[in-house]
Formats: sequence, structure tokens, C-alpha cells
Amino acid sequence: MTLKGKEILLGVTGGIAAFKAAALVSRLAAAGAGVSVMMTESAAKLVAPQTFYSLSGRPVRLSLWTDPQSAHPHIGAGKDARIFCIVPATADIIAKAAAGIADDLVSTTILAFDGPILLAPAMNSVMWSKPATRRNVARLEEDGFFFVGPEAGRLSCGDEGLGRMAEPEAIQEAIEKILAGSAPSKIRR
Ligand SMILES: Cc1cc2nc3c(=O)[nH]c(=O)nc-3n(C[C@H](O)[C@H](O)[C@H](O)COP(=O)(O)O)c2cc1C
Repeated sequence: MTLKGKEILLGVTGGIAAFKAAALVSRLAAAGAGVSVMMTESAAKLVAPQTFYSLSGRPVRLSLWTDPQSAHPHIGAGKDARIFCIVPATADIIAKAAAGIADDLVSTTILAFDGPILLAPAMNSVMWSKPATRRNVARLEEDGFFFVGPEAGRLSCGDEGLGRMAEPEAIQEAIEKILAGSAPSKIRR
């Protein structure tokens, strides 16, 4: 599956692995995909929106309410996209998606997007293993969401464990498989 000419919508949420989303955008753009990025308020505290603007060549959406590109950004942003990828996916956005909560641009777009959604979770291993997160992930798998990772390894907080975000290369492979229609819902390495 070539990504050339494919439109990809990327939602960046507030995990420290947000910096790796920049490498993903760079890879996708190099592969010829058109990448549109939206960020949560927390994500924009961790990585500057300008980084994603520079790498995607497109303005970054930050809010439901102040988007000069669209009167209904939660619908307009995903109009041409073949897939919506949440990279990284925080425990918070996973909980919101599982509950159908739509209280900011990224969560509202998850609810409004009519296509495959791929989540790349990244969080501390205690957060990942909490019953609430386990329930939310199971519910999203039942609902047909795709997951890539997380992996075990060294976490940014210094702990070792499961919760490290999949590498950009693995996320790109997952996108390619989903678009080719050959992905299981859990894509583990
Ligand atoms: C420095 C820092 C790093 C964080 N990293 C993570 C993380 O990797 N995963 C996670 O689920 N939450 C992480 N958080 C907490 C989230 O930012 C917080 O739950 C926030 O409400 C998420 O909002 P969002 O889902 O709208 O982006 C981090 C917070 C800080 C201050």
C-alpha cells in the first residue's frame, strides 16, 4: 500500500511522546501523504504547533472555536481523510473516546469521523494497567478502533514497563495495513 496522495488526519494529545508524532508526520509527508494535524491544549504545551505546521506544510488546528479553515472543524478536518490517527493517545483521550465524550476538537472529531481510527497509546505503565484504562481499551477494541502498541521499555518518567509509544515506523506500517484492509484490530510488534 503506497501512501502517495492519501489524506491522513493526525490528532496529537498531551503525552510526552508527542515529539515522536513530529517524526511520524515527517515520514508520512516523505511518503507522499497529505497530513493534517490537530492538537489538544495539553499537546500544544509539550510540542509547538509550529513544528507540525512546518513538517506538514499545513496550518495546525487547535480549537473547535477559532478555526479559520472551517466553520465546523470537527467535520471539515476529516472530510477528505482516509484514516484518523491519534498519536500519542493519552489515557484521557482513550477514556473520552470509550465514553463518547466530545468536549474538545480531537475528541469531537473522533466521534464525528466516519472512517478507521488508529490509536497509539503512550503512558506510564501504572496508568496503562489501571482497570479503568483496561476497560476503556477493551471497549474501543470492541467498537472497532485500531491500536498500535504500546511497547515495553524505558518510559519518559524513568520507569520501565509497558506504556512506551510504538515507534513512528511501526505506526506508519499500521496505517498502511489499515488502508490496505489487512490489519487486525491489535497491531503489536
Ligand atoms: C510532562 C507531562 C507528560 C505527560 N505524559 C503523559 C503521557 O505520556 N500519557 C498520558 O496519558 N498522560 C500524560 N500526561 C498527562 C496528560 O497531559 C493529561 O492527562 C491531560 O489532561 C491530557 O489531555 P489530552 O488528552 O486532552 O491531551 C502528561 C502530563 C505532563 C505534565
